[in-house]
Amino acid sequence: MNDPKNQPTASVEQQIERLREKIRYHNYRYYVLDDPEISDAEYDGLMRELMELEGRYPHLISPDSPTQRVGAPPLDKFDTVRHTIPMLSLANAFGEEEVREFDNRIRRILGREHPVEYVVEPKIDGLAVELVYEQGIFTMGSTRGDGEIGENVTQNLKTLPSIPLRLLTSPGNPIPTRLEVRGEIYIEAKDFQKLNRQREVDGEPAFANPRNAAAGSLRQLDPQITAKRPLKIFFYGAGLIEGCTFKTHWEMLEQFKKWGLRVNPESKICKNLTESFDYYLHMQEKRETLAYEIDGIVIKVNDLKLREELGEVSRSPRWALAYKFPPREAITQILDILIQVGRTGALTPVAKLKPVRLGGVQVSRASLHNQDEIERKGIMIGDTVVVQRAGDVIPDVVRVLESARTGNEKPFVFPTKCPVCGADVLRSEGEAVARCTGISCPAQLKERILHFTSKGAMDIEGIGRKLVDQLVGKGLVSDVADLYFLTEEKLLSLDRMGKKSARNILEALEKSKRPSLARFIYALGIRHVGEHVAKILADHFKNLENLHQASEEELQGIYEVGPQVARSICVFFQQEETRQVLKKLKQANVVVIEPAETKKLKNLEGKTFVLTGELKRFTREEAKRFIEEQGGRMTSTVSKKTDFLVVGENPGSKLDKAKQWDIKLLNEEEFEKMLQI
Ligand code: IVH
Repeated sequence: MNDPKNQPTASVEQQIERLREKIRYHNYRYYVLDDPEISDAEYDGLMRELMELEGRYPHLISPDSPTQRVGAPPLDKFDTVRHTIPMLSLANAFGEEEVREFDNRIRRILGREHPVEYVVEPKIDGLAVELVYEQGIFTMGSTRGDGEIGENVTQNLKTLPSIPLRLLTSPGNPIPTRLEVRGEIYIEAKDFQKLNRQREVDGEPAFANPRNAAAGSLRQLDPQITAKRPLKIFFYGAGLIEGCTFKTHWEMLEQFKKWGLRVNPESKICKNLTESFDYYLHMQEKRETLAYEIDGIVIKVNDLKLREELGEVSRSPRWALAYKFPPREAITQILDILIQVGRTGALTPVAKLKPVRLGGVQVSRASLHNQDEIERKGIMIGDTVVVQRAGDVIPDVVRVLESARTGNEKPFVFPTKCPVCGADVLRSEGEAVARCTGISCPAQLKERILHFTSKGAMDIEGIGRKLVDQLVGKGLVSDVADLYFLTEEKLLSLDRMGKKSARNILEALEKSKRPSLARFIYALGIRHVGEHVAKILADHFKNLENLHQASEEELQGIYEVGPQVARSICVFFQQEETRQVLKKLKQANVVVIEPAETKKLKNLEGKTFVLTGELKRFTREEAKRFIEEQGGRMTSTVSKKTDFLVVGENPGSKLDKAKQWDIKLLNEEEFEKMLQI
């Protein structure tokens, strides 16, 4: 006879499937309908029972089982996913007039007088994703990315309890063969504040707004981290759907709900434009009490056939519009003006405010940007001001209420010495920013260290602001390389530092010693070199030595590198301090991993291309990618070193230059032949 322990009888299989269905149903009641039928304890009991059974019969575990949400291993990087149908963005309107134009244009194109029916929805401040269900099973999820190509974040999306791993079935409820469903991932306001408070404790930079928080939480390489973030989703649209058709958007939303997909209960049908305006006012009021941040409403044509007729223009559909709310304002007082010193020495004035509630959060600081802004707005210490939040937590000062002045206000004098190190402050001609000139300014050093250790850079965990304050304050670290010479003993001399934390920090430092070239360049904190430019430089130069030796002219020749960036890179590598730090990093065994040579054809090895005019078959980015894949380079200016000039329609002055220097010209066809694509 079969051993009943690991040979499931049909009834065990049935039992497991019945449990799963029950759990799916209660998930749906809780997350989609917001109307649970059982207590949390009862739900936990069902989950435990299922886990126990699956533990005993592991071969019966299926990827869509409710127990399989967390557990995927961390990734090195996200794969990319091409959306079957591009994910467009919305055109914005800021007043009734613009919305009327939208409605008029629609009726003009459709050639009709009578009103168009719309569906209106809150516009949530989160990030768009697309989920694919094949035969009802969640198989892939991706971010919007640039609209055409996004990142594969399937494992992370699986950790959201409001995302069904399998669509709900019921009699008469069809399951599409393929469903590409789109929605917005977001974080509720109270969860956002809680998350930021925790980040402050951990010494990590706060998220500026809920959108950044949602994006930062979803784009984690380790799904376990995403699982801990309180992400939610509302579904509001679709890509390709096979095996199921709809006549209207509303009908589609209704069907989403039946499949267990969470739809915003605030969505509504409006018979005409007037009803949409009423909805706008209604939501503007309701905004204050909603659990999540919205920055406007979205107005969409309900009839899907009409949408097809309307089509799109410049990456936005003509059938939908975002009608934005005006930024939220409040009145408060400026108690003081403080100066912050950044990584590159920039002095930024910040207003310390009498705390005020603004759009659901308490604010106590406002950015004043620079000296000119303070003067232009006539801001004095003690002034009563209007502050506004346009999404970010840090608000702006809009204007001073001069009528509220008492005569006790004090003008703000911009410092001529750095408030941290006492060095002279320099404001170059034509620049808005004043900078501290001290080469060993501790404020700059602290910011440089925090930048060096940050996620997109060397990604060293556990080194927060409080720790950096101590490391710099006690003289243990006087440049970023010194981090790698920290010892357990040195760390234990700091306040509130235990053996375990010290070891964790040393381990994190050790782990960071093999950065990619792009990360390393970014980590160096060269002015004007953000993550994107760092990646371009890494792809172009392949190793640090080449970048180090590059002339300003060569740098400027790189597509997307302008004169300011080129200058800044050269200045950076000429500094004695830079040389010292690079030498010390080498001594500490920090080894930069250089980008692997592509294994593709190397037909264009060493050849330099410049493009002029418009190409019909390629975008500039595509042409660049094809050239680079085959070992060539694309630069933006013609020089004697240029091998080929690809001439599109309406070429510019580059053509004359190329002719002067006898550079080989290619038309689009010849270029395509050369690429062999
Ligand atoms: S529909 C083609 N509906 O706003 C239009 N978008 O720029 C597709 N968003 O990328 C979007 N709430 O991230 C739509 N109810 C809603 C939305 C919404 C927020 C976001 C979405 C999109 C952006 C539009």
